[in-house]
Amino acid sequence: MIDPFYEKFLRRIFFRLDPEEVHEITINGLAWLSRMKTICQLLHKLNGTYSKKPVHLFGLKFPNLVGLAAGLDKNAQCLPAFSAMGFGHVETGTVTPRCQPGNERPRLFRYPEQEAVINRMGFNNDGAEEMKKRIQRSMPKDRRSIPVGVNIGKARSTALEDAVDDYLACFCALADQADYFTVNISSPNTPGLRKLQEEEYLRELLGALQTENNDRAQRLGSRPLPILVKIAPDLDYRQIEELIDILLDLGYDGVIATNTTIARTGYFKTIQENGGLSGRPLQDKSDKVIRFIHRITSGKLPIIGVGGIMDVASAARKMDEGASLVQVYSGLIYRGPSLVRGLVKGLSEHQG
Ligand SMILES: Cc1cc2nc3c(=O)[nH]c(=O)nc-3n(C[C@H](O)[C@H](O)[C@H](O)COP(=O)(O)O)c2cc1C
Repeated sequence: MIDPFYEKFLRRIFFRLDPEEVHEITINGLAWLSRMKTICQLLHKLNGTYSKKPVHLFGLKFPNLVGLAAGLDKNAQCLPAFSAMGFGHVETGTVTPRCQPGNERPRLFRYPEQEAVINRMGFNNDGAEEMKKRIQRSMPKDRRSIPVGVNIGKARSTALEDAVDDYLACFCALADQADYFTVNISSPNTPGLRKLQEEEYLRELLGALQTENNDRAQRLGSRPLPILVKIAPDLDYRQIEELIDILLDLGYDGVIATNTTIARTGYFKTIQENGGLSGRPLQDKSDKVIRFIHRITSGKLPIIGVGGIMDVASAARKMDEGASLVQVYSGLIYRGPSLVRGLVKGLSEHQG
Protein backbone atom coordinates (compact mmCIF):
# COMPACT_ATOMS: atom_id res chain seq x y z
CA MET A 1 0.00 0.00 0.00
CA ILE A 2 3.02 2.26 0.38
CA ASP A 3 3.52 4.50 -2.62
CA PRO A 4 7.06 3.91 -4.06
CA PHE A 5 7.40 7.64 -4.85
CA TYR A 6 6.72 8.48 -1.21
CA GLU A 7 8.91 5.68 0.16
CA LYS A 8 11.90 6.10 -2.15
CA PHE A 9 11.87 9.85 -2.58
CA LEU A 10 9.70 12.09 -0.41
CA ARG A 11 10.02 10.16 2.84
CA ARG A 12 13.82 9.98 2.47
CA ILE A 13 14.00 13.75 2.17
CA PHE A 14 11.43 14.38 4.89
CA PHE A 15 13.16 12.10 7.39
CA ARG A 16 16.41 14.06 7.03
CA LEU A 17 14.62 17.20 8.21
CA ASP A 18 13.28 18.21 11.59
CA PRO A 19 9.81 16.60 12.06
CA GLU A 20 8.03 19.86 12.84
CA GLU A 21 9.63 21.57 9.83
CA VAL A 22 8.28 18.77 7.66
CA HIS A 23 4.88 19.23 9.28
CA GLU A 24 4.95 22.94 8.41
CA ILE A 25 6.09 22.31 4.83
CA THR A 26 3.28 19.77 4.41
CA ILE A 27 0.61 22.04 5.88
CA ASN A 28 1.77 24.99 3.75
CA GLY A 29 1.75 22.84 0.62
CA LEU A 30 -1.68 21.42 1.33
CA ALA A 31 -3.04 24.87 2.27
CA TRP A 32 -1.83 26.13 -1.11
CA LEU A 33 -3.47 23.16 -2.86
CA SER A 34 -6.67 23.80 -0.90
CA ARG A 35 -6.98 27.20 -2.55
CA MET A 36 -7.07 25.50 -6.00
CA LYS A 37 -10.66 24.36 -5.69
CA THR A 38 -10.96 22.86 -9.18
CA ILE A 39 -7.77 20.83 -8.81
CA CYS A 40 -8.97 19.51 -5.46
CA GLN A 41 -12.31 18.49 -6.94
CA LEU A 42 -10.54 16.76 -9.83
CA LEU A 43 -8.17 14.91 -7.49
CA HIS A 44 -11.12 13.88 -5.36
CA LYS A 45 -12.82 12.37 -8.40
CA LEU A 46 -9.62 10.69 -9.59
CA ASN A 47 -9.07 9.19 -6.14
CA GLY A 48 -12.57 7.67 -6.32
CA THR A 49 -12.71 7.09 -2.60
CA TYR A 50 -16.43 6.59 -2.29
CA SER A 51 -17.14 3.40 -0.43
CA LYS A 52 -19.79 1.04 -1.79
CA LYS A 53 -21.62 1.53 1.47
CA PRO A 54 -21.49 5.03 2.94
CA VAL A 55 -21.95 5.04 6.70
CA HIS A 56 -24.79 6.90 8.38
CA LEU A 57 -23.90 7.77 11.95
CA PHE A 58 -25.38 10.30 14.37
CA GLY A 59 -27.39 11.91 11.61
CA LEU A 60 -24.37 12.40 9.31
CA LYS A 61 -23.40 10.66 6.09
CA PHE A 62 -19.78 9.53 5.87
CA PRO A 63 -18.83 8.68 2.25
CA ASN A 64 -16.21 6.23 3.48
CA LEU A 65 -14.86 4.80 6.73
CA VAL A 66 -11.52 6.60 6.93
CA GLY A 67 -11.06 9.97 8.63
CA LEU A 68 -8.17 12.26 9.44
CA ALA A 69 -7.45 12.27 13.18
CA ALA A 70 -7.21 15.54 15.11
CA GLY A 71 -3.85 17.28 15.43
CA LEU A 72 -2.63 17.28 11.83
CA ASP A 73 -4.81 20.10 10.48
CA LYS A 74 -4.97 21.94 13.79
CA ASN A 75 -6.19 25.19 12.22
CA ALA A 76 -8.45 23.97 9.40
CA GLN A 77 -6.04 25.21 6.73
CA CYS A 78 -6.21 22.20 4.41
CA LEU A 79 -9.76 20.82 4.43
CA PRO A 80 -10.23 20.64 0.61
CA ALA A 81 -6.81 19.00 0.18
CA PHE A 82 -7.55 16.31 2.76
CA SER A 83 -10.92 15.71 1.13
CA ALA A 84 -9.13 15.39 -2.24
CA MET A 85 -6.72 12.88 -0.67
CA GLY A 86 -9.75 10.68 -0.12
CA PHE A 87 -10.66 11.10 3.53
CA GLY A 88 -14.31 10.47 4.34
CA HIS A 89 -14.21 12.99 7.17
CA VAL A 90 -11.70 15.37 8.66
CA GLU A 91 -11.35 16.26 12.32
CA THR A 92 -9.69 19.63 12.78
CA GLY A 93 -8.19 21.03 16.01
CA THR A 94 -7.66 20.75 18.87
CA VAL A 95 -8.74 24.35 19.04
CA THR A 96 -8.82 26.53 22.16
CA PRO A 97 -10.79 29.79 22.59
CA ARG A 98 -7.79 32.02 21.80
CA CYS A 99 -4.55 31.37 19.96
CA GLN A 100 -1.70 29.88 22.00
CA PRO A 101 1.86 28.88 21.07
CA GLY A 102 1.97 25.39 22.60
CA ASN A 103 5.03 23.90 24.27
CA GLU A 104 8.64 24.75 23.57
CA ARG A 105 10.35 23.11 20.60
CA PRO A 106 11.52 20.46 19.92
CA ARG A 107 8.20 18.79 20.66
CA LEU A 108 7.74 16.24 17.88
CA PHE A 109 9.89 13.09 17.50
CA ARG A 110 9.92 10.23 14.97
CA TYR A 111 10.93 6.61 15.63
CA PRO A 112 11.06 5.10 12.12
CA GLU A 113 12.03 1.56 13.15
CA GLN A 114 8.98 1.41 15.40
CA GLU A 115 6.75 3.45 13.04
CA ALA A 116 5.99 5.62 16.05
CA VAL A 117 5.79 9.28 17.00
CA ILE A 118 6.08 11.08 20.32
CA ASN A 119 4.58 14.55 20.52
CA ARG A 120 4.16 17.16 23.21
CA MET A 121 2.78 19.93 21.01
CA GLY A 122 0.46 21.31 23.71
CA PHE A 123 -2.48 22.59 21.63
CA ASN A 124 -0.56 25.11 19.53
CA ASN A 125 -3.36 26.73 17.51
CA ASP A 126 -4.71 30.00 16.10
CA GLY A 127 -7.89 30.10 18.20
CA ALA A 128 -11.58 29.46 17.59
CA GLU A 129 -12.49 32.64 15.67
CA GLU A 130 -9.67 32.16 13.17
CA MET A 131 -10.68 28.53 12.65
CA LYS A 132 -14.29 29.54 12.06
CA LYS A 133 -13.24 32.00 9.32
CA ARG A 134 -11.04 29.39 7.64
CA ILE A 135 -13.76 26.73 7.57
CA GLN A 136 -16.30 29.26 6.27
CA ARG A 137 -13.90 30.29 3.52
CA SER A 138 -12.63 26.88 2.40
CA MET A 139 -15.48 24.46 3.09
CA PRO A 140 -18.71 26.18 4.16
CA LYS A 141 -21.21 23.91 5.82
CA ASP A 142 -23.79 23.98 3.03
CA ARG A 143 -21.18 23.12 0.37
CA ARG A 144 -19.13 20.20 1.59
CA SER A 145 -18.98 16.58 0.57
CA ILE A 146 -17.51 15.19 3.78
CA PRO A 147 -18.30 15.85 7.45
CA VAL A 148 -15.95 18.21 9.26
CA GLY A 149 -15.49 17.58 12.97
CA VAL A 150 -14.09 20.16 15.36
CA ASN A 151 -12.00 18.92 18.27
CA ILE A 152 -12.15 21.33 21.22
CA GLY A 153 -9.96 21.77 24.29
CA LYS A 154 -9.02 24.14 27.06
CA ALA A 155 -6.21 26.70 27.08
CA ARG A 156 -3.07 25.86 29.00
CA SER A 157 -3.58 28.94 31.20
CA THR A 158 -7.18 28.05 32.14
CA ALA A 159 -7.59 26.42 35.56
CA LEU A 160 -9.25 23.01 35.57
CA GLU A 161 -12.15 24.48 37.56
CA ASP A 162 -12.85 26.94 34.71
CA ALA A 163 -12.36 24.46 31.86
CA VAL A 164 -16.11 24.38 31.12
CA ASP A 165 -15.96 28.03 29.98
CA ASP A 166 -13.27 27.24 27.40
CA TYR A 167 -15.11 24.25 25.92
CA LEU A 168 -18.35 26.28 25.79
CA ALA A 169 -16.57 29.20 24.12
CA CYS A 170 -15.19 26.89 21.40
CA PHE A 171 -18.56 25.20 20.96
CA CYS A 172 -20.41 28.52 20.58
CA ALA A 173 -17.82 30.00 18.19
CA LEU A 174 -17.82 26.99 15.87
CA ALA A 175 -21.30 25.43 16.14
CA ASP A 176 -22.45 26.94 12.84
CA GLN A 177 -19.55 25.36 10.96
CA ALA A 178 -19.01 22.00 12.70
CA ASP A 179 -20.78 18.82 11.61
CA TYR A 180 -19.79 17.25 14.91
CA PHE A 181 -17.71 18.16 17.94
CA THR A 182 -15.13 16.13 19.81
CA VAL A 183 -14.48 16.97 23.43
CA ASN A 184 -10.78 16.37 23.96
CA ILE A 185 -10.15 15.44 27.57
CA SER A 186 -7.33 13.05 26.83
CA SER A 187 -4.32 14.94 25.51
CA PRO A 188 -1.31 14.31 27.76
CA ASN A 189 0.34 17.61 26.82
CA THR A 190 -1.85 20.12 28.65
CA PRO A 191 -1.15 19.70 32.36
CA GLY A 192 -4.14 18.28 34.24
CA LEU A 193 -6.37 17.91 31.15
CA ARG A 194 -6.78 14.16 31.58
CA LYS A 195 -8.27 14.79 35.06
CA LEU A 196 -11.36 15.98 33.19
CA GLN A 197 -12.02 12.29 32.49
CA GLU A 198 -12.82 11.85 36.19
CA GLU A 199 -16.46 11.88 37.24
CA GLU A 200 -16.37 15.03 39.39
CA TYR A 201 -15.25 17.18 36.42
CA LEU A 202 -16.71 15.16 33.58
CA ARG A 203 -20.38 15.34 34.52
CA GLU A 204 -20.27 19.11 34.88
CA LEU A 205 -18.36 19.62 31.62
CA LEU A 206 -20.40 17.27 29.46
CA GLY A 207 -23.67 18.36 31.10
CA ALA A 208 -22.96 22.04 30.38
CA LEU A 209 -22.05 21.33 26.74
CA GLN A 210 -25.15 19.23 26.17
CA THR A 211 -27.37 21.93 27.73
CA GLU A 212 -25.86 24.56 25.44
CA ASN A 213 -26.24 22.21 22.47
CA ASN A 214 -29.92 21.55 23.25
CA ASP A 215 -30.67 25.24 23.88
CA ARG A 216 -29.08 26.16 20.55
CA ALA A 217 -31.08 23.50 18.73
CA GLN A 218 -34.29 24.77 20.30
CA ARG A 219 -33.46 28.37 19.36
CA LEU A 220 -32.78 27.39 15.75
CA GLY A 221 -35.49 24.74 15.46
CA SER A 222 -32.81 22.22 14.44
CA ARG A 223 -31.37 19.00 15.83
CA PRO A 224 -28.62 19.14 18.44
CA LEU A 225 -25.14 18.64 16.96
CA PRO A 226 -23.47 15.28 17.51
CA ILE A 227 -20.87 15.46 20.27
CA LEU A 228 -18.25 12.77 20.83
CA VAL A 229 -15.67 12.38 23.58
CA LYS A 230 -12.06 11.43 22.89
CA ILE A 231 -10.50 9.24 25.54
CA ALA A 232 -7.01 8.17 26.59
CA PRO A 233 -5.77 4.61 26.18
CA ASP A 234 -4.29 4.74 29.68
CA LEU A 235 -7.55 4.52 31.66
CA ASP A 236 -8.24 1.25 33.46
CA TYR A 237 -11.42 -0.69 32.70
CA ARG A 238 -13.23 0.65 35.79
CA GLN A 239 -12.49 4.25 34.73
CA ILE A 240 -13.64 3.55 31.17
CA GLU A 241 -16.86 2.01 32.46
CA GLU A 242 -17.60 5.05 34.67
CA LEU A 243 -16.89 7.40 31.79
CA ILE A 244 -19.08 5.48 29.35
CA ASP A 245 -21.93 5.44 31.90
CA ILE A 246 -21.78 9.23 32.02
CA LEU A 247 -21.78 9.52 28.22
CA LEU A 248 -24.81 7.24 27.94
CA ASP A 249 -26.54 9.03 30.79
CA LEU A 250 -26.13 12.42 29.14
CA GLY A 251 -27.08 11.21 25.66
CA TYR A 252 -23.66 11.64 24.05
CA ASP A 253 -23.34 10.40 20.47
CA GLY A 254 -20.12 8.44 20.53
CA VAL A 255 -16.57 8.01 21.65
CA ILE A 256 -13.20 8.35 19.92
CA ALA A 257 -10.77 5.69 21.11
CA THR A 258 -8.00 6.59 21.53
CA ASN A 259 -5.65 9.50 21.98
CA THR A 260 -1.89 8.96 22.40
CA THR A 261 -0.45 6.98 25.32
CA ILE A 262 1.87 8.07 28.10
CA ALA A 263 2.79 4.44 28.84
CA ARG A 264 6.26 3.31 27.79
CA THR A 265 6.81 -0.37 27.17
CA GLY A 266 9.28 -2.42 25.11
CA TYR A 267 11.64 -0.25 23.09
CA PHE A 268 10.18 2.93 24.63
CA LYS A 269 11.02 1.95 28.25
CA THR A 270 14.36 3.65 27.88
CA ILE A 271 13.26 6.61 25.76
CA GLN A 272 13.30 9.74 27.90
CA GLU A 273 11.12 11.99 25.73
CA ASN A 274 7.89 13.16 27.46
CA GLY A 275 4.64 13.35 25.54
CA GLY A 276 2.07 11.14 23.86
CA LEU A 277 3.18 8.07 21.94
CA SER A 278 1.29 7.18 18.75
CA GLY A 279 1.68 4.89 15.75
CA ARG A 280 2.29 1.14 15.71
CA PRO A 281 3.08 0.74 19.47
CA LEU A 282 -0.40 2.12 20.23
CA GLN A 283 -2.26 -0.36 18.02
CA ASP A 284 -3.06 -3.14 20.51
CA LYS A 285 -3.76 -0.80 23.37
CA SER A 286 -6.38 1.14 21.45
CA ASP A 287 -7.86 -2.09 20.02
CA LYS A 288 -8.39 -3.37 23.58
CA VAL A 289 -10.17 -0.16 24.59
CA ILE A 290 -12.43 -0.37 21.53
CA ARG A 291 -13.26 -4.03 22.24
CA PHE A 292 -14.08 -3.25 25.88
CA ILE A 293 -16.35 -0.30 25.06
CA HIS A 294 -18.12 -2.27 22.36
CA ARG A 295 -18.72 -5.11 24.81
CA ILE A 296 -20.04 -3.06 27.74
CA THR A 297 -22.35 -1.00 25.51
CA SER A 298 -23.48 -4.04 23.46
CA GLY A 299 -22.41 -2.05 20.43
CA LYS A 300 -24.95 0.72 21.11
CA LEU A 301 -22.45 3.58 21.39
CA PRO A 302 -20.71 4.44 18.11
CA ILE A 303 -16.92 4.23 18.36
CA ILE A 304 -14.38 5.91 16.08
CA GLY A 305 -11.24 3.78 16.29
CA VAL A 306 -7.84 5.46 16.13
CA GLY A 307 -4.34 4.42 17.12
CA GLY A 308 -1.63 2.74 15.12
CA ILE A 309 -3.43 2.18 11.83
CA MET A 310 -0.68 1.47 9.29
CA ASP A 311 -2.43 -0.76 6.77
CA VAL A 312 -5.74 -2.41 5.89
CA ALA A 313 -5.20 -5.24 8.39
CA SER A 314 -4.79 -2.90 11.36
CA ALA A 315 -7.79 -0.80 10.27
CA ALA A 316 -9.94 -3.88 9.70
CA ARG A 317 -9.03 -5.12 13.19
CA LYS A 318 -10.45 -1.92 14.67
CA MET A 319 -13.68 -2.42 12.73
CA ASP A 320 -13.84 -6.05 13.89
CA GLU A 321 -13.37 -4.94 17.50
CA GLY A 322 -16.42 -2.70 17.16
CA ALA A 323 -15.41 0.61 15.56
CA SER A 324 -17.89 2.20 13.15
CA LEU A 325 -15.28 4.48 11.54
CA VAL A 326 -11.50 4.83 11.81
CA GLN A 327 -9.05 7.74 11.83
CA VAL A 328 -5.34 7.96 11.07
CA TYR A 329 -2.45 10.29 11.78
CA SER A 330 0.97 8.65 12.35
CA GLY A 331 0.37 6.15 9.53
CA LEU A 332 0.41 9.06 7.07
CA ILE A 333 3.91 10.02 8.18
CA TYR A 334 5.24 6.51 7.51
CA ARG A 335 3.11 5.37 4.57
CA GLY A 336 2.29 8.65 2.81
CA PRO A 337 -0.98 9.92 1.35
CA SER A 338 -1.70 6.78 -0.71
CA LEU A 339 -2.48 5.06 2.61
CA VAL A 340 -5.88 6.77 2.54
CA ARG A 341 -6.96 5.37 -0.82
CA GLY A 342 -5.63 1.93 0.13
CA LEU A 343 -7.53 1.91 3.42
CA VAL A 344 -10.79 3.06 1.83
CA LYS A 345 -10.56 0.36 -0.81
CA GLY A 346 -9.43 -2.36 1.58
CA LEU A 347 -12.08 -1.58 4.19
CA SER A 348 -14.77 -1.38 1.55
CA GLU A 349 -13.86 -4.95 0.52
CA HIS A 350 -13.71 -5.95 4.21
CA GLN A 351 -17.25 -4.55 4.66
CA GLY A 352 -18.37 -6.96 1.95
C1 LIG B 1 1.81 15.39 16.30
C2 LIG B 1 0.49 14.96 16.85
C3 LIG B 1 -0.41 15.92 17.31
C4 LIG B 1 -1.65 15.54 17.80
N1 LIG B 1 -2.53 16.50 18.22
C5 LIG B 1 -3.76 16.14 18.66
C6 LIG B 1 -4.71 17.12 19.04
O1 LIG B 1 -4.47 18.33 18.95
N2 LIG B 1 -5.92 16.70 19.48
C7 LIG B 1 -6.25 15.37 19.58
O2 LIG B 1 -7.36 15.04 19.98
N3 LIG B 1 -5.35 14.41 19.21
C8 LIG B 1 -4.15 14.77 18.77
N4 LIG B 1 -3.24 13.81 18.38
C9 LIG B 1 -3.62 12.37 18.55
C10 LIG B 1 -4.18 11.78 17.25
O3 LIG B 1 -5.36 12.40 16.86
C11 LIG B 1 -4.45 10.28 17.44
O4 LIG B 1 -5.44 10.10 18.41
C12 LIG B 1 -3.20 9.51 17.89
O5 LIG B 1 -2.05 10.00 17.27
C13 LIG B 1 -3.31 8.01 17.58
O6 LIG B 1 -3.45 7.79 16.20
P1 LIG B 1 -2.22 7.39 15.23
O7 LIG B 1 -1.51 6.24 15.89
O8 LIG B 1 -2.87 7.06 13.93
O9 LIG B 1 -1.36 8.60 15.16
C14 LIG B 1 -2.00 14.16 17.87
C15 LIG B 1 -1.10 13.20 17.41
C16 LIG B 1 0.13 13.57 16.89
C17 LIG B 1 1.07 12.51 16.40
